Amino acid sequence: MLDCIVIGAGPGGLVCTKELLEQGLREVVCLEQAEDVGGVFTKTYDSLVLTSSATMSMYSDFWIGDGNQHAFWTKEEALEYWKRYAKHFGVLDCTRFNSKVVAVIPQGSEGWQVQLASGDTLLSKRVALAIGNNAIPNYPAWKDLLTDVEYSHSKEYRNADSFVGKNVLVVGGGESGSDVALEISRVANKCWVSLRNTTGWVAPRRRGIYAADISTHRGVWGLPRDYGATLSEAICQAELSQKDPVHDTVVDLNKKIKNPKGVWGTFGTKTFALPKAIVHHGCKVVGDVLRVEDGGRTLHTADGETLENVDAVVFCTGYKNYVSFLPEDLRETDPRNLYKHMFHPAYRDKIVWIGWARPGFGSQFPIMEMQARLFALVCAGERTLPVPAEMERVTCVDRAAYLEQFEHNAHRVRSLVDYHRYMDDMAGLIGCEPPLWEYFFLHPRIWLRMVYGATQATQFRLRGPGSKESLARELLMKLPVSKPTHIVKAGLKGRWIYAFKALIPKFGFVGLKGSRNSSSPVAASGVSSV
Ligand SMILES: Cc1cc2nc3c(=O)[nH]c(=O)nc-3n(C[C@H](O)[C@H](O)[C@H](O)COP(=O)(O)OP(=O)(O)OC[C@H]3O[C@@H](n4cnc5c(N)ncnc54)[C@H](O)[C@@H]3O)c2cc1C
Ligand SMILES: NC(=O)c1ccc[n+]([C@@H]2O[C@H](COP(=O)([O-])OP(=O)(O)OC[C@H]3O[C@@H](n4cnc5c(N)ncnc54)[C@H](OP(=O)(O)O)[C@@H]3O)[C@@H](O)[C@H]2O)c1
Repeated sequence: MLDCIVIGAGPGGLVCTKELLEQGLREVVCLEQAEDVGGVFTKTYDSLVLTSSATMSMYSDFWIGDGNQHAFWTKEEALEYWKRYAKHFGVLDCTRFNSKVVAVIPQGSEGWQVQLASGDTLLSKRVALAIGNNAIPNYPAWKDLLTDVEYSHSKEYRNADSFVGKNVLVVGGGESGSDVALEISRVANKCWVSLRNTTGWVAPRRRGIYAADISTHRGVWGLPRDYGATLSEAICQAELSQKDPVHDTVVDLNKKIKNPKGVWGTFGTKTFALPKAIVHHGCKVVGDVLRVEDGGRTLHTADGETLENVDAVVFCTGYKNYVSFLPEDLRETDPRNLYKHMFHPAYRDKIVWIGWARPGFGSQFPIMEMQARLFALVCAGERTLPVPAEMERVTCVDRAAYLEQFEHNAHRVRSLVDYHRYMDDMAGLIGCEPPLWEYFFLHPRIWLRMVYGATQATQFRLRGPGSKESLARELLMKLPVSKPTHIVKAGLKGRWIYAFKALIPKFGFVGLKGSRNSSSPVAASGVSSV
């Protein structure tokens, strides 16, 4: 009987296996259906460049290489990093490639029988599902009416070669839709992008030579989410001050987002690809497709447009959560019903979902590392999960908070979470909260990086179980600090505003009490202590 089987050797499965080994579990096997590590990144489109910088994407304890702090990896570079990581931490030694799992069958309180396509079976006390939730394409219902045009999903898209000279509709305004629209609009006769609602919040990869996501830091993200509207306005003003058509188009797209929390009420489309497609290559944004005629050759949209002579449709409409090899009651598990998007109250630590928390901003890789750390501690008996009723109560509170913060996005993307809130929640459960006050007084230069540098994984290695303090300090000192950008300034302004609001009741200005923070659980998480 194995201690744990990890299914999948994408970035989530690798970090999960590594953390289990680091916690001293020896009987660990990672099963991967493909012949190499890397998951999605081994089979996505040719030109893919990650939207999270190397600083944000790196695992806490494995350096990206000096000089790469502002780099954005190509998929080859990302794969190279994960391969080195897997080798360094001995993950490859317990990974079995070409091992497709076809069934996971409960064995009472003993654990699970895991069946492979080869016919082999393995028994394990626990199973970690690290199979990714960007695997099963989601389509609008009207896809089935497309009998006379080619259609495909971004999952199958590799490059724009087959779209040269054609009239192409791209559906969706996430990162896939944006990347695909830019490539296709360069070579197509016509390219439209259909948005049912809006894009995600469009943000650049870089500002000058700096990775823009290093400003995903506590200095501003530590503010209550109610400040999102003010922050969004500051970001729009900064874009407009560039006096450049691409930046103006970014503002046009972002202003359409009506969520009261603005940038904090949606997910990031962290690339300027779509605005560039619009400005430089004549790509046109249209509304949701409401009517299909001539087998898809003619499409009518919600904003009154008629798209004629359509040759091809590329659905960049995201993914569904479904795991075919699980017992029936678990196949369609909604991540919002899992404790911390990881544990099922009925199965507790017998099975864990790694990678089913997708951050609006930030990166999914540090999230998967924190999940892996918590799970490994539970397996090693260093942490205990709450009783099922408490797991359900907490899950209910988290779900309500995310639905309130992200509105329709949280309903569609069931894994969507607030990066900072989630990371700090996990840190609380692991017991590795960054020692901000201590470092403020004793190590101010590291403190600066923890508060005004990207909230990436390394600051969670300074304390608590699994801490690697001297390595973490060394790596943190190599990480960049945000320049005093408009975002940093908006963060400082926000701190003054909330500090002032906090003082008002103390001086008895009762008439202004109603202007205090929202009582939503997300807002109630409040300004993090720095
Ligand atoms: C195109 C794209 C780009 C992205 N870019 C970024 C980014 O820049 N920054 C960021 O933070 N996030 C990014 N993400 C989101 C997320 O980080 C990735 O999807 C990431 O790959 C998730 O890692 P994972 O290990 O959970 O899943 P995956 O990468 O999907 O890996 C799952 C692995 O499980 C294996 N597997 C599945 N089923 C079985 C089975 N039955 N038996 C055995 N093995 C199985 C698969 O073969 C695969 O190797 C991106 C997602 C996509 C789709
Ligand atoms: N370069 C990169 O690093 C890169 C590239 C691609 C993807 N990714 C990552 O991969 C993951 C998936 O991204 P994604 O862009 O594929 O998906 P996504 O972010 O989930 O976006 C899907 C888009 O499709 C729309 N949509 C969904 N269902 C629809 C329907 N029935 N009809 C019309 N529109 C519909 C959504 O609009 P609504 O808002 O209206 O629902 C949304 O705009 C994300 O984590 C993303 O960060 C990264």
